[in-house]
Amino acid sequence: MSIVVRRPRALAIDDPGRTFLDDVLAGLLAEPKRLPPKYFYDRIGSELFQRITTLPEYYLTRTEIGILEARAGEIAKLIPANAAVVEFGAGSSAKTRILLRAAPQISAYVPVDISGAFLAAETAQLQQEMPDLRVLPIAADFMAPFALPAELGGRPRIGFFPGSTIGNLEPHEANALLRQAAAILGRGALFVVGVDLVKDPDILTAAYNDRDGVTAAFNLNLLMRINHELGGEFNPAAFRHRACYNSEQRRIEMHLVSLARQRVRACGKSFDFRRGETIHTENSYKYTVESFRSRALGAGWTSAATFVDAQNYFSVHVLRAKDAAA
Ligand code: AVJ
Repeated sequence: MSIVVRRPRALAIDDPGRTFLDDVLAGLLAEPKRLPPKYFYDRIGSELFQRITTLPEYYLTRTEIGILEARAGEIAKLIPANAAVVEFGAGSSAKTRILLRAAPQISAYVPVDISGAFLAAETAQLQQEMPDLRVLPIAADFMAPFALPAELGGRPRIGFFPGSTIGNLEPHEANALLRQAAAILGRGALFVVGVDLVKDPDILTAAYNDRDGVTAAFNLNLLMRINHELGGEFNPAAFRHRACYNSEQRRIEMHLVSLARQRVRACGKSFDFRRGETIHTENSYKYTVESFRSRALGAGWTSAATFVDAQNYFSVHVLRAKDAAA
């Protein structure tokens, strides 16, 4: 009789089979410690983010909505007849509605979101408002390759990725996402992407250090989530929210700072923290119009149009897929 010792399968960082547990274990064992920002969005985290979007310091959401409202007509003129909109992450139905209302030639809408329950609720509502629109939700992680529904047929495709969610991606991940979108959307596609702009660091840091402490609660909620879902014993009062602008990397970094030397149990293990040691919880990359265009160009897209607000705070890029033959 032989005993087969099976090595635990090594999970790549972008493996869709990776769980919250895998990522928390790997992140807390890493040096420096880190946790992926996608786990902010449990029910409480999603509610806190919703509140963030209404804060006076958090200019991103209202500025992007302002650009979309002011420029929807111009964007609509670029959209061909019978087009299908494919939304990457469907948490922003207010923005989608602006696009759909301005461009009645859009005949199908494909929201792609990891949360199937969320998708069902959002899309049922939209379908009621727009009975002629073909709504075809896909429950998938848009960072991994996914297939578009066959019902789309030969419709021209418009990708929609608002909210500067692309800013959460590391440069190589942003390149991969842009390339994957080009492959999925196909020839002649457009890709409408919302991107936060490099600006005065005081304005950037204020947006992530609001007076009411909502962003701090959003950041600290990640520890609460580990406590609830992974048997963690984090004392959130022993950590502090920190957000600062890294001007070399052009990104806001969010961290949780340990206020004391402490040992914390979670996931059946113990983790030691030095006083002042941090868990790096988020990067939010900022671009110039040019730096984003050149990233897009390197990943299969040319610029069809770029819209910014009067203060130059935020940009909405309309990209066009480079001809495969070119
Ligand atoms: C949803 C990734 C665009 O980076 O501004 C808000 C998330 N983090 N406040 C951002 C966030 C802290 C947000 N994105």
